[in-house]
Amino acid sequence: MSSLNKKFPRLLPEPIRKGMKVTELIDGAFKAYNGGRLAEACRLFEGKMLAGDGTVGMSLTGALTPAGLGIAAIVPLMKAGFVDWIISTGANLYHDLHYGLGMELFAGSPFLDDVTLRKEGVIRIYDVLFDYDVLLDTDAFVRQVIQGPEFQRSMGTDEFHYLLGRYVAEREKKLGIKETSVLSAGYRYGVPIFTSSPGDSSIGMNVAAMSLRDARLSIDVNRDVNQTAAIVYAAKSSGSTSSVFILGGGSPKNFILQTEPQIQEVMGIEERGHDYFLQCTDARPDTGGLSGATPGEAVSWGKIDPDNLPDCVVCYADSTITLPLITAYALSKVPPRKLKRLYDRRDALYEDLRTQYFKHGKIEKIEHRTDVTKPKAGRSGRSVVGKGKANGK
Ligand SMILES: NC(=O)c1ccc[n+]([C@@H]2O[C@H](COP(=O)([O-])OP(=O)(O)OC[C@H]3O[C@@H](n4cnc5c(N)ncnc54)[C@H](O)[C@@H]3O)[C@@H](O)[C@H]2O)c1
Repeated sequence: MSSLNKKFPRLLPEPIRKGMKVTELIDGAFKAYNGGRLAEACRLFEGKMLAGDGTVGMSLTGALTPAGLGIAAIVPLMKAGFVDWIISTGANLYHDLHYGLGMELFAGSPFLDDVTLRKEGVIRIYDVLFDYDVLLDTDAFVRQVIQGPEFQRSMGTDEFHYLLGRYVAEREKKLGIKETSVLSAGYRYGVPIFTSSPGDSSIGMNVAAMSLRDARLSIDVNRDVNQTAAIVYAAKSSGSTSSVFILGGGSPKNFILQTEPQIQEVMGIEERGHDYFLQCTDARPDTGGLSGATPGEAVSWGKIDPDNLPDCVVCYADSTITLPLITAYALSKVPPRKLKRLYDRRDALYEDLRTQYFKHGKIEKIEHRTDVTKPKAGRSGRSVVGKGKANGK
């Protein structure tokens, strides 16, 4: 008799049958490799991340909204109170606007002639197609909206997207369409939506162009860094959990994870890291890039609580497959949660973090550096001044 049965469940799948529910399919037939990881991801999300009213942050990279995943999965998750805050690439928010403004995208093919498409004024994102006019009209919408008086100042991206989302929600109403946009859902459900690289998308490009005219909108990235940390701090200091649901990787993955080092390492406030880490990606860990970095590596940075490492899941699969399945699984198992409406509490959360920082944080910036007036010789004989850590702890 094997001793394995004391440690592991027997690998015995259920035969797939007609009319099987998504939860039965995933629990019964997704048993090994990335299928096994996907089943673990579903159970982690449903059983631990959403339990006890824990706070869930989601990061979005890859071309998800062009593929329709905003309407299909992200908006339903926001509406059910399963995603409390979001970090997205600007691209996902820009392409989300097409759906919110009632524009048409088409399920094409990846095997088309791009030179012909260019001549015909067709844009291609792998197998998603749309007219060049969709870009021009979306750009025009952004430029028109940001001329409003409420945009003529500096603000965090959560506030910018909230204000933009209000206009998208108005447009949806006029068009008689509903729940088509992540931005309008963010406005409606009070889900703060940040972007980690505000200049790196067509939204940012239009904001930049308007700044050459008389627009006064500028993005306060410091507010974003502190505001995201404030959301995580509020979850953890209330005795609840903070979880990250990472789709893809990229800069939004770091932005959602760096909240913990911002609290611990930079602000000097005691904390242990996010509680649960769930990532669906195609990025490998062995190149050293952040996109493929494992939860274990994140533990070493204080980003993830070491006690929960065994629960963390990375599923190496395309988000267009994993996200709909995880969404369907969670919606089938967990009743909608009360909306946290973190956006409505943004100033209070921010002030709370500031108070804690003033209580615990140090500003020893240069005091312990080598005396700059007396350069000391290093092994190479060259000066080694100024090599001390900037934030002495
Ligand atoms: N018109 C626009 O506004 C526009 C268009 C495209 C990109 N951009 C900008 O370019 C930057 C890069 O964006 P990106 O989202 O293409 O990131 P990216 O290609 O850098 O991808 C980030 C990570 O996610 C992984 N990934 C991507 N798609 C995935 C999928 N379907 N399933 C699993 N993993 C996946 C990648 O392997 C990578 O590790 C962003 O700042 C974005 O705003 C702007």
